Amino acid sequence: MAAKPRITVLGTGYLGATHAICMAVLGYEVLGIDTDEAKIAALADGRVPFYEPGLPEMLSKALETGRLRFGTDIAEAAEFGDVHFVCVGTPQMKDSPAADMTYVDAVVTDLAKHLTRRALVVGKSTVPVGTAARLTQLLQSTAPAGDQVELAWNPEFLREGFAVEDTMRPDRLVFGVASDWALEQLQAAFAPLLEAEVPVVVTDLPTAELVKVSANSFLATKISFINAMAEVCETTGADVQQLAAALSFDPRIGGRFLRPGLGFGGGCLPKDIRAFIHRTEELGVGQAVSFLREVDAINQRRRQRTVDLIRSQAGGSLAGVTICALGAAFKPDSDDIRDAPALDVARLLQAEGAIVRVYDPQAMENARKAYPDLHYATGVAEAAEGAQVVALLTEWDQFRDIDPEWLGEIVAVRAIVDGRHALDPVAWRAASWDYRALGRAVDPAA
Ligand SMILES: NC(=O)c1ccc[n+]([C@@H]2O[C@H](COP(=O)([O-])OP(=O)(O)OC[C@H]3O[C@@H](n4cnc5c(N)ncnc54)[C@H](O)[C@@H]3O)[C@@H](O)[C@H]2O)c1
Repeated sequence: MAAKPRITVLGTGYLGATHAICMAVLGYEVLGIDTDEAKIAALADGRVPFYEPGLPEMLSKALETGRLRFGTDIAEAAEFGDVHFVCVGTPQMKDSPAADMTYVDAVVTDLAKHLTRRALVVGKSTVPVGTAARLTQLLQSTAPAGDQVELAWNPEFLREGFAVEDTMRPDRLVFGVASDWALEQLQAAFAPLLEAEVPVVVTDLPTAELVKVSANSFLATKISFINAMAEVCETTGADVQQLAAALSFDPRIGGRFLRPGLGFGGGCLPKDIRAFIHRTEELGVGQAVSFLREVDAINQRRRQRTVDLIRSQAGGSLAGVTICALGAAFKPDSDDIRDAPALDVARLLQAEGAIVRVYDPQAMENARKAYPDLHYATGVAEAAEGAQVVALLTEWDQFRDIDPEWLGEIVAVRAIVDGRHALDPVAWRAASWDYRALGRAVDPAA
């Protein structure tokens, strides 16, 4: 195995900051680089600039070792590192479903200009298949070290909310490589995880790129499948919760990601499946994944259907109706509001004239910045004051644990839409709440 490499992490957002911090804790010398000076200043000062459970403690630990530094100078990164991890964003383009490759191309070009010795550049960002082949060309034609510089792909599967656990104990590592030397460098860069017997799949570059988008496509399909069943349940009087429970006992299906509700969002799944559809069409194999269009459409419909359910609970019109919206983040244990279903619902409600008061335990600052026109409350009680409908839109534990009697004393009307199937309908109905959830009978007992 190669000697312990010095590591750089280019792009210190949700993925890169976690990776940089965890690699330092695992024993490597790490330099994290970002163009966002405020983010770098916060990290260098021991503050994680986003919410991720356990990460602030890991950052303190990593900084204490003296092995972790942050900066903005890519030339310094090129000088310092043996293995460079590319962790910049690949968001959806504004006017197309394709992935915006501007950041990846920019960082690889800037780094390459300064690479004067043998080094491995490792892509971690989620990219369209074929990117690694294109970047290899770009890298080797730009770097002074030419083909001494190689590219590998190591897709990242971490989940926000579990990012530390997923990085320190991933369920698998995928090494997409074009040479034995690249493989040796990756093995050296992940030595502690290999010693801990984390399964490794060694493959070629296009397969490594595809593993990530196909994993996300599969998860998105499973979520939309159960939400499609919820739509059928809504018109037949069947109960999607019980349907999902019955399906989950089948070991060929399994219960994970089979939870009906408001659907998926965030900075990954929606944009990744759209970019995948786009890329397959470019390659002339669009038909192979045309079902992903339907997966996306089912998912988007959940947002409007949630609004429809809230409107029906409010008596047919939302004009002037006060709504308590619980949740803004795209999922619990994160402050990430990218493509957040909760905020889409809040905005749709407001567009129909409702007075929407949003509360989220961690995502308030991001939500306020992105949608300053919504009303924000400082807690559940303030959001619920005088509400005619409560909408649970992100399933934080804090919301699951709400006492229906307590909340009943604060609202004007005991009406709740459980957008995440997170509450116990029996308990809420017992406290005289009109409890509704998509795909569930209005009140099976009534
Ligand atoms: N967030 C996740 O849970 C997750 C999981 C797996 C894969 N991914 C993928 O990882 C990539 C990054 O995602 P993220 O959520 O961390 O995004 P992010 O937006 O939080 O972070 C990206 C960072 O890159 C920085 N950046 C942009 N251009 C740069 C440049 N030229 N040099 C240095 N830094 C630059 C930005 O300032 C930002 O801090 C994406 O491709 C995403 O699809 C994310």
